[in-house]
Amino acid sequence: MSDYATAHRQSIEDPDAFWLEAAKGVDWTTPPTTAVDGSRPPFYTWFPDGELNTSYNCIDRHVEAGRGDQAAYIYDSPVTGTKESVTYSQLLEQVEAFAGALRAEGVGRGDRVVIYMPMIPRAAVAMLACARLGAVHSVVFGGFAAPELAIRIDDARPKVVVTATGGIEPSRKIPYFPMVSKALQLTEHKPSAVLVAARADQFPDEAFPETPGTTWTDWDEAVATAEPAGPVPVNANDPLYILYTSGTTGMPKGVVRDNGGHAVALTWSMWNVYGVKPGDVWWSASDVGWVVGHSYIIYAPLLVGATSIIYEGKPVGTPDAGAFWRVASEHKAVALFTAPTAVRAVRKEDPNGEEIGKYDLSAMHTLFCAGERLDPETYQWATDKLGKPVVDNWWQTETGWPIASNLRGLDPMPIKAGSPTVPVPGYELHVLDGEGNQLPAGEEGNLAVRLPMAPGTLLGLWEDDERFVSSYMSVFDGYYSTGDGGYIDDDGYVYVMGRTDDVINVAGHRLSTGSMEAVIAKHPAVAEAAVIGVRDELKGQRPVGYVVLKAGEVRDPDELRAELVTMVRDEIGAVATFRDCTVVQGLPKTRSGKILRKTMRQIADGQENVPVPSTIEDPQVLEDLTPFLRQQG
Ligand code: COA
Ligand code: AMP
Repeated sequence: MSDYATAHRQSIEDPDAFWLEAAKGVDWTTPPTTAVDGSRPPFYTWFPDGELNTSYNCIDRHVEAGRGDQAAYIYDSPVTGTKESVTYSQLLEQVEAFAGALRAEGVGRGDRVVIYMPMIPRAAVAMLACARLGAVHSVVFGGFAAPELAIRIDDARPKVVVTATGGIEPSRKIPYFPMVSKALQLTEHKPSAVLVAARADQFPDEAFPETPGTTWTDWDEAVATAEPAGPVPVNANDPLYILYTSGTTGMPKGVVRDNGGHAVALTWSMWNVYGVKPGDVWWSASDVGWVVGHSYIIYAPLLVGATSIIYEGKPVGTPDAGAFWRVASEHKAVALFTAPTAVRAVRKEDPNGEEIGKYDLSAMHTLFCAGERLDPETYQWATDKLGKPVVDNWWQTETGWPIASNLRGLDPMPIKAGSPTVPVPGYELHVLDGEGNQLPAGEEGNLAVRLPMAPGTLLGLWEDDERFVSSYMSVFDGYYSTGDGGYIDDDGYVYVMGRTDDVINVAGHRLSTGSMEAVIAKHPAVAEAAVIGVRDELKGQRPVGYVVLKAGEVRDPDELRAELVTMVRDEIGAVATFRDCTVVQGLPKTRSGKILRKTMRQIADGQENVPVPSTIEDPQVLEDLTPFLRQQG
């Protein structure tokens, strides 16, 4: 039996033995004696009697072991022209200091802190400082607008918000103060403090706004008057963070991650999945606002004593399509982890891969991709041009680390284009039909993981057990429903073909069509709307809206489109990339009133012979809509 098969089998048949062995990779103040606690299904927890501190594991222990002078982070920011290293010793000092500042604001174990920051090292410091206190961070991606920030603040009810003066997109600077102060006007919950990482060189003229009930303090000032804070041991199941992700409705899901299972799983993954060792330089070109950023920019590389690159730039335009290869080469990264959409953006500008040839990439062993399906064409291009393994891995905010991958450290396997290879140890993956019956190899159905899932996967949804159970755990009895469809072939290779719900994936960003529909429906002329994700060559999918006007309303289509685009941008954020919208006479529905979004999407994507559900209320509506759908696709 292969190393992979042995490991996978043991992880499923004897999870205690497998994961207690893996738990030795973590320093515990109280080592755990059991791994999985299944006494309250479908709520599974890991290492229930273990205690640890995640920031101690990420920083202090490496300094104690002699890595103090090694870079923990390399900050490479083409948008500001900055390159700097932060050693483990410096990081320790900064995290202790900022944890002290948070503590002085009353933040302690279990308290929440919302972090709204761009890709700067202080975002990492803020997250690790929360972990140090046993506080719970909730990072909000900078591309979200004030109302989305407000929703998250009201749900998490943080004591403190940590932000920066602004973020920098290649096309413009984005001041954050107006966004945070507007969010605080919208919220019912008022955090007592906002702590601000100043970027005076980029935003020289920003003054703190007035927000009743909330004081604004500069990071350096807050740190200067506070005592440094040591690591607070917490139970393995204390929450480390809440990360909100798009569901099918406008209300995002607050995915809760634990400390113990997370530290064990990520530590195990660094070598076994990604082939990264202590001391290696590793680069995940995601954003701290997404799960890939949490796991593989911030936590996992530090858990194993590697060096992590924090990149404030884009794959193209900062300044060119050689940016990825320049950064990887300059810092001798052993691997780069990015989204397929970023590779497609690079290929579009540099189809012959000429930029690649300009840089020495001899240190790099692998290009990892995740966030959306790595389509065979993109896979082939990257493989040909780089001459290195290009490895797809499939995961979700909920799981926190891959469900399926090619395990580059444990047991590298042949790569098949279009497949993220095999289920990672800890995940017993099945393909189920609508009734929950297992489907044979090759047949497409719902991808579901038999419970318990691996350690490090979600503990639940923040203060919403009911939604946790109804969204994931009660769809198929005894399984976690991933919301993705796909199949497993005769060799056990997994193929993930896309979401089975109304979540869409635009340029590696997970978005809810439901939340866009909710915004559009607020327009006074709109009676109803449907937003679907249409296939897009560069971004994978792009949202397209179809709106029906109220009786008697007559609007200029271009003006209406501009108004709706602005509304979505103001309410959700630029990241929604909502640009296309068409006025139609009607939307196809079932007799019970459900809009047939999947059918619409299939037609827009150019599929032939799309099956029309027998429950359709009026087939003529769909027929009338078809030319519009085909036009957008
Ligand atoms: N803060 C503020 N605005 C942001 C932002 C941020 N952090 N990130 C993106 N935006 C804005 C962009 O500026 C853009 O605004 P615009 O409409 O005014 O131009 C809008 O959101 C859409 O951004 P995006 O979808 O990223 O499009 P793009 O054309 O700027 O870039 C790619 C396209 C492919 C280069 C880029 O999307 C990318 O690198 N994607 C990879 C994503 C990723 O790594 N995901 C993590 C999963 S592993
Ligand atoms: P997020 O929670 O933002 O990471 O998005 C998770 C969703 O992105 C998954 O449910 C999938 O639909 C999609 N996804 C992520 N990685 C992959 C992959 N490697 N292959 C196919 N789909 C993916």
